[in-house]
Order: sequence, then structure tokens, then C-alpha cells
Amino acid sequence: MIKVLVAGLIGTVAGVVAMIIVIVLAGTTTSGASSVGIGALPLSTAALSSGPASTPTSTPTSTPPPDTGGGSTGGSTGGASGNVDNGKTIFTGSAGCGGCHALAAAGTSGAVGPALDDLAGDAGKAGEPLDAFIKSSIVDPGAFVASGYPDGVMPTNFGTTLSASDINDLVAFISSAQK
Ligand code: HEC
Repeated sequence: MIKVLVAGLIGTVAGVVAMIIVIVLAGTTTSGASSVGIGALPLSTAALSSGPASTPTSTPTSTPPPDTGGGSTGGSTGGASGNVDNGKTIFTGSAGCGGCHALAAAGTSGAVGPALDDLAGDAGKAGEPLDAFIKSSIVDPGAFVASGYPDGVMPTNFGTTLSASDINDLVAFISSAQK
């Protein structure tokens, strides 16, 4: 009988131990599962934020192109926004540029000032990009005086007598008329 009781006790203890193990395992599994669940949320949050994170990444990536594009856009916008035809009309007409300047594209042969077909050299001497040089030569002729030509002969008031868009158009025209 005692052996039977002891065997029963052992069986009971073993059963209890087994239950505890199962409960602990279950608890562990549960907490493991819940921590996986919690982990999954941050993971998906991270996935979500990595979406936006990659968007900013692609935004800076796409930002340099605008800069580069900005640079080339600025350049080509200067040319594109300037109305070449209107620039030619102003050059040959109201502003009287053609009376003093030869420019093949305008069909003018004035000789008071230098021919304007090839300004890259003087732009380089002045240390300015071509368009900027043409513009400053129009609004401030004394800033750079072409060698062999007199200062103070070209009117200095084009910056006020011509509108900003007309000057833009002139620059676009002269720039497009370069050899
Ligand atoms: C009365 C004559 C006269 C008129 C009008 C005139 N210019 Fe000039 N221009 C000159 C003379 C002279 C120079 C050279 C001296 C100097 O650089 O300031 C010159 C220089 C320039 C230059 C720089 C050339 C170089 O190689 O450095 C540009 C560009 C120019 N003129 C554009 C124009 C435009 C555009 C107009 C019309 C809006 C115009 N000019 C009207 C006489 C004139």
C-alpha cells in the first residue's frame, strides 16, 4: 500500500511538475508570442518609417537634380524665358543697338562699338559667364570696356529705359546669335 501511495505521490508530483513546465512553457510561448507581436509592430512601424525615410532619401536625391537642373534651368531658362525674337526686334529697333553694333543674326553693321558675334573672349576677360557678361554690358557698359573702343559712348541708361524682360530678351537674342 505504501508503495502504491508513494507511487501515486510521485505520479502526482510528476504531474504537477509537468503542468508547471507546460504552464511555464505556455507562458513563455505566450510572452514570446506577445513580444513577437510587439516586435512586429515596431518592425512594421520601422517599415513604415523606412518608407518615409526612403522618401526623404529620394527627395534629397531628387533635390540635387533641381539644383543641377536649377543651374542648367537657370541657364536654359535665361535663354528659354528670354524671347529671342523680341530681343532681335529691340536690338534692331527702338534701342538702337544695331546702329552701333554689327551682329550678323540681326543684319546690322554699326561700327561705333565692337561686333557682338563673338563675345566669349571678352566675357572671359571680364570673368563672367556669357549671359551675365552680356547683361552687365548692357546695363553697365563701363564695367568692362572693350579694348579699342571708347568708354562712355554706349548709353548707360538701358537699365532704366528698357524693362527687365526686354533686357532678358536682348541677352537671349545676343547669346543665341554667337558664332
Ligand atoms: C551709341 C553707340 C552704342 C549704342 C546705341 C549701343 N552700344 Fe553697346 N557698345 C558701344 C561701345 C562704344 C562699346 C564698347 C565700349 C564698352 O565696352 O563700353 C559697347 C559695348 C557693348 C557690349 C560689350 C562688347 C564687348 O565685347 O565688350 C555689348 C554686349 C553691347 N555694347 C551691347 C549693346 C546693346 C544690346 C545695345 C542696345 C540695347 C547697345 N550695345 C547699344 C556703343 C553702343
